[in-house]
Amino acid sequence: MAIVAPSILSADFANLERDCKKVVDAGAAYLHIDVMDGMFVPNITIGPCVVKSLRPTSNAVFDVHLMIEQPERYIDEFAKAGADIITVHVESTENIQLCTDKIKAHGIRAALTLKPGTPIEVTDPYLNQVDMILVMTVEPGFGGQKFMPDMLPKVEWLDKQRTNHNYSYLIEVDGGVNSENARCLVDAGVDVLVAGSSVFCAKDIAQAVEFFNDVNRK
Ligand code: DX5
Ligand code: ZN
Repeated sequence: MAIVAPSILSADFANLERDCKKVVDAGAAYLHIDVMDGMFVPNITIGPCVVKSLRPTSNAVFDVHLMIEQPERYIDEFAKAGADIITVHVESTENIQLCTDKIKAHGIRAALTLKPGTPIEVTDPYLNQVDMILVMTVEPGFGGQKFMPDMLPKVEWLDKQRTNHNYSYLIEVDGGVNSENARCLVDAGVDVLVAGSSVFCAKDIAQAVEFFNDVNRK
């Protein structure tokens, strides 16, 4: 069974608690929280104070995706605010190891991610120690973009490495995930489907959550 991680970037920020509750009540185990600084990506979104305010309202796994320059500066704050998983971009720091160490020091899960143009092999030295690898299937920065099918080989490579070396990381994809591509992603090895607009802009949000949760690997 896939895990759906609704991206709250597509929620109504004036009613964040209500919208989070809606997807969690419908069965979403994770909430995907997109943090952008206007530098690493051309958009600004959520800071640690929002994560802190949301924390007491939900038992969901807070899956915090940092799209910020030098994320090592803010890992402690997001961990203290209540993140359960912190994901950093390999392009955003010269200290990938420091980032994963800092995240793990808080007893939470560490994940790495990469932009579409970055080769997946960059993650290789860290595969034996991370809890999750996130494959970006759009250019990070905005919700509602078109899925890039040519990112699928990255998922297949990660799945193969995992099997060959007995690694335990989860594979997550983020960007343009919808009811048409979810199945082939899960078949390729994806465990966690981030879905923003296809959940929050759906006519029936609960039905959309159930749909993604029910996608099984062949
Ligand atoms: C993009 C973000 C995504 C985004 C996904 O930079 O990382 O999480 O919200 O939104 P959709 O599912 O609409 O592509
Ligand atoms: Zn994201």
